[in-house]
Amino acid sequence: MNVVEISPRTTTTSVSKYDNNETTRVIAVTSGKGGVGKTTVAINMALGLAEKGKRVMLMDADLGLANVDVMLGLRHTLNLSHVLKGECDLEDIILTGPRGIKVIPASSGVKQMADLSEPEQAGLIHAFSSLSKQADVLLIDTAAGINSNTVKFCTAAQEVLLVVCNEPASITDAYATIKVLNQDHGINRFRILANMAQSSMEGAKIFQKLVDVTEQFLNVSLDLVGTIPYDLNSRKVVQQRKAIFDVLPGSGAARAYKRLADRTDKWSIPTKANGSLQFFVEQLVQAEPKKRQVQL
Ligand SMILES: Nc1ncnc2c1ncn2[C@@H]1O[C@H](COP(=O)(O)OP(=O)(O)O)[C@@H](O)[C@H]1O
Ligand SMILES: [Mg+2]
Repeated sequence: MNVVEISPRTTTTSVSKYDNNETTRVIAVTSGKGGVGKTTVAINMALGLAEKGKRVMLMDADLGLANVDVMLGLRHTLNLSHVLKGECDLEDIILTGPRGIKVIPASSGVKQMADLSEPEQAGLIHAFSSLSKQADVLLIDTAAGINSNTVKFCTAAQEVLLVVCNEPASITDAYATIKVLNQDHGINRFRILANMAQSSMEGAKIFQKLVDVTEQFLNVSLDLVGTIPYDLNSRKVVQQRKAIFDVLPGSGAARAYKRLADRTDKWSIPTKANGSLQFFVEQLVQAEPKKRQVQL
């Protein structure tokens, strides 16, 4: 049996429910290349999980193209940098979107998570631990590509959801991201979401291309979690601050997002040890997350 190094965040139990009010599932939504639909996916996934009764928090960690708030038409003046300076509480910066999803807007405060001073780190850990009982799921909309900030969020999260579409650059950049996250940061499981596909068969083909290349060179496990069809309504509906399954319940995209939420809901729950927001933030602010050996 192969033994690989993975970070402690990947330890899970095999129970199928996770909303026991004690743990928070943390999912980093990322991609190799930009413009493949990360933000759209993160928002619709958040709405889909909220529809299932989950308390969902969505953190915008894409500083270059921060747009969860813009897409949802949410206005704000305070952000994480104000929390870090002690000027307000984390609760003060959280916005409420459709279906009650909570949005943490992007800010320069998340730029250098590893470079925060010790009091700032302690303040951030404290701020997030106070939210622990308020979220069943934390979704993080990261920047594309392999920058240090995205790597931090992926390493600290329990799950990495990689959005891929049927463009050669999207697939090769997704492979590059998997390679770095695996070889340099010990992540060995990736959830793959094919977006903007013409059919579920196309989604399966995109996935197979990634499997073919990773199998040759890496010891990772890839899981196709869904295929979202190409549908321009994905954007229009979000801009109306609505969920696609409310506005166009019969559409392929609505059904695909519902399936995605159902599937995510069945992932094994985080343990008490790694499933707290406090643990997540501790990993996030650590300069180099600890790794340990886990059998695949
Ligand atoms: N399934 C889809 N079908 C059609 N257009 C989509 C789909 N998903 C996203 N888009 C569009 O693609 C563009 C990029 O999406 P966005 O979510 O901003 O990507 P990213 O966050 O990866 O940069 C947006 O115009 C968005 O409306
Ligand atoms: Mg985006």
